[in-house]
Amino acid sequence: MRVIIEPDYEALSKWAANYVANRIIQANPTPEKPFVLGCPTGSSPLGLYRNLIDMCSAGKISFQNVITFNMDEYVKLPEDHPESYHSFMCNNFFNHIDIKPENVHILNGNAPDLIAECNQYEEAIAKAGGVDLFMGGIGPDGHLAFNEPGSSLSSRTRIKTLTTDTIHANSRFFDNDLSLVPKQALTVGIGTVMDAKEVLLVCSGHNKARALKHCIDGDISHKWTSSMLQMHPHAIVVCDEAACDELTVGTYKYYLDKERGNL
Ligand code: GLP
Repeated sequence: MRVIIEPDYEALSKWAANYVANRIIQANPTPEKPFVLGCPTGSSPLGLYRNLIDMCSAGKISFQNVITFNMDEYVKLPEDHPESYHSFMCNNFFNHIDIKPENVHILNGNAPDLIAECNQYEEAIAKAGGVDLFMGGIGPDGHLAFNEPGSSLSSRTRIKTLTTDTIHANSRFFDNDLSLVPKQALTVGIGTVMDAKEVLLVCSGHNKARALKHCIDGDISHKWTSSMLQMHPHAIVVCDEAACDELTVGTYKYYLDKERGNL
């Protein structure tokens, strides 16, 4: 695992966006061989998306030959609800870049058969040749996508019931009213993310310090599902200083020295 420690949110967002942009440029995608990008929602990736939008507007990068698969979507929240992940992605990313609408994939939480929807999503990812780079955030309880504590570390796309912790955390997007937060979501599994060629997580702020500690400095456990990334051959976590508050001094120093070339 590679861990990048940046001073603050702005710097980590820039680092992550540059990394993603370089990967797409290096892949030199074509309609026959597109680049497949996994996309998260939440507040963590907002800066990353903003930077990618700026690079696209400046003509430094194009998404014309990029296919995206989003990580998750709430169940039974209308697609046009302002807090649906469909709305989030259009408002914060897709409406501002040159991606082709037919190349965007987001799970349909209103599908008549949710299990079939999840299975078809896995098939669509496989048909696209697998995900080249899965971007992600981390929930305060260490979850990745909506793989809540206790999720199988080999799980695939499926319906997941949200934990009370997540309902509380996400209520900030629903007028702080717990009753308005959907109780279930469709989500890619940990196994789905692990199949990606690369995974890049962004993690910011003191309220993610415990999650980051368990993700990179703890044992692999289904209680902290992002810790499974320790088994991924090409995983990167980009974090800021505040998110490092619970790392051991040794871990913190090692990753800083490594990236600065002092080791
Ligand atoms: C939601 C999403 C996750 C995201 C998490 C953290 O639960 N399903 O993919 O990582 O929130 O969100 P935030 O970045 O807003 O803290």
